[in-house]
Amino acid sequence: MTFHILVSDPLSEEGIQPLKQEEHLKIDVHTGLSHEELLETIEKYDALLVRSQTKVTKDIIERAKNLKAIGRAGVGVDNIDLDAATEHGVIVVNAPDGNTNSAAEHTMAMLMSLARRIPQAYHSLKQHEWNRKAYVGVELKGKTLGVVGFGRIGAEVAYRAKGQRLNVIAYDPYLTEEKAEKMGIQCGTLEEVIQQADFITVHTPLMPATKHLISRDAFNQMKPGVRIINCARGGIIDEDALYEAILEKKVAGAALDVFEEEPIQNYKLVELPEVVATPHLGASTVEAQENVAIDVSRDVIQILNGGAAKNP
Ligand code: NAD
Ligand code: MLT
Repeated sequence: MTFHILVSDPLSEEGIQPLKQEEHLKIDVHTGLSHEELLETIEKYDALLVRSQTKVTKDIIERAKNLKAIGRAGVGVDNIDLDAATEHGVIVVNAPDGNTNSAAEHTMAMLMSLARRIPQAYHSLKQHEWNRKAYVGVELKGKTLGVVGFGRIGAEVAYRAKGQRLNVIAYDPYLTEEKAEKMGIQCGTLEEVIQQADFITVHTPLMPATKHLISRDAFNQMKPGVRIINCARGGIIDEDALYEAILEKKVAGAALDVFEEEPIQNYKLVELPEVVATPHLGASTVEAQENVAIDVSRDVIQILNGGAAKNP
């Protein structure tokens, strides 16, 4: 029996080799499909492989009469309607640890860019300006980094931050005092993290409980001059509240890789000189893309062959 697989977001060519090696699998790579185009074509597929661009909504899943598996080549499954998938017996698999390292490294790059205003200085120099006074930064050593969400990526960021001699305070409902002590960090409540940190980085998934977790009220409790990093998901931080907090000088700057709307439609936040930004590049390394594509490809093969997936 031949199974048809649609790859609808750009995935690593090397990463999808396991699929290509299976004779009974036919792979179509069609990236950049509109919602309507995906609706029209999805019915013939047995499996769908995506990153974060494709929104696998209820109507897509309802139309996908042959669909058995959705593979998310990455961690966050917030672009997939999990309830609809469950209702229609479609198994959703992700790649929970293939991009952990890359996302943590990107977070550190953003943190350091923010502290030393490297993107702004680079941009100015490219305009043939030699302006040393405008780009005075702050040191990391001895400052406190607040980590909200201490899973795979949050913990990796904390390890790296300690190497930069930052003190780390973290909040996660599953973080214990024992684990924090072992790692040489402090475990706090969300309020303690928000109130004590000089830099705050979020690493939770986006779900109803974390939507606008960092809100206007949270900004009001922060130290004046705090700096914010979001390399997790747009929507964990309330972008309007962040915009206002920067204009009011409560927040000295923000480093953002992810946005409430992607691609961004309203650039007002990103255009602020205090904001450094990248277009959702946290997992965009050769290594991470290969890892996550291999992981989901293997799981999709397992499901189509009637076996058990590793990361359902
Ligand atoms: P993970 O599941 O290992 O960790 C998430 C942690 O968040 C868990 O420990 C969980 O207990 C905690 N958490 C949940 N709700 C919370 C709350 N209300 N307050 C505090 N903590 C809470 O996931 P991970 O691999 O560390 O990834 C985290 C997120 O980063 C992903 O869900 C994804 O959205 C995002 N991500 C982004 C990129 C990127 O390209 N920018 C790359 C990888 C992952
Ligand atoms: C993820 O959740 O893994 C990230 O969004 C990475 C990505 O798919 O680009």
